[in-house]
Amino acid sequence: MLQSTSPDAARPGLHVAIIMDGNGRWAAAHGRPRAAGHAAGVSALREVAETAPALGIATLTVYAFSADNWARPRAEVSALMRLLQRSLATEVDRCVTNGVRLSIIGRRDRLPASLARAIAAAEERTADGRRLWLRVAVDYSARDLIRRAAAAWVGPRPPTREEFSALIGEVGSAGGAPDVDLLVRTGGEQRLSDFLLWECAYAELYFTPRMWPDFDAAELGRAVADFRRRERRFGGLPQAAAG
Ligand code: FPP
Repeated sequence: MLQSTSPDAARPGLHVAIIMDGNGRWAAAHGRPRAAGHAAGVSALREVAETAPALGIATLTVYAFSADNWARPRAEVSALMRLLQRSLATEVDRCVTNGVRLSIIGRRDRLPASLARAIAAAEERTADGRRLWLRVAVDYSARDLIRRAAAAWVGPRPPTREEFSALIGEVGSAGGAPDVDLLVRTGGEQRLSDFLLWECAYAELYFTPRMWPDFDAAELGRAVADFRRRERRFGGLPQAAAG
């Protein structure tokens, strides 16, 4: 007998992307240093990743560090790099247990060598995870990836959309991912900030004023429920009019 573990189990898995914004403001509101906000952000991410499969999410891509974040004060950049490395060490066992495949997308050549090694080790250890593909964007710029993918293309004709998607995946180190179904941004801002520009061509957008450390399983559930109510037309007509 076919058994369903969740109401969404029969549907193809969603690709949800999250811009985890508001860690600094959350920390200020709690009278704590910005680094404490980022650390609280890791806990929020853990909760979200653990909830995602039951909501029908197969791929989750989160923005941890943009290529433009190098412009932040050196102390904050170092704190973020250390947090990433520490989190890889502490979370990788949990990923293996929960069937999470972890990939880092973005550039690696500008990361501290020890972090780059930790990334490679974590990716190898979690490579068999099948419940959730968790892609963490680090030193990431969508425009840079698109530019580099265009430069890497060799052929007598322009690439098809599928070929170009695969190329962006290769250039971004993790292989091609499906288009994004739902993009969530926390922290009240409503912009894309150079995140997944190619993959979000038809993404539904969900903005919440909640700061990222306060984002939790219930809020993710609300975002997905909101997404399920939307009619996606991909440039076509509404279902009623298409008759
Ligand atoms: C944006 O908030 C958040 C970041 C630049 C960092 C996000 C990183 C994490 C949540 C840690 C991720 C860790 C792992 C292991 C994936 P902000 O600093 O821009 O906040 P603000 O807009 O309130 O100043």
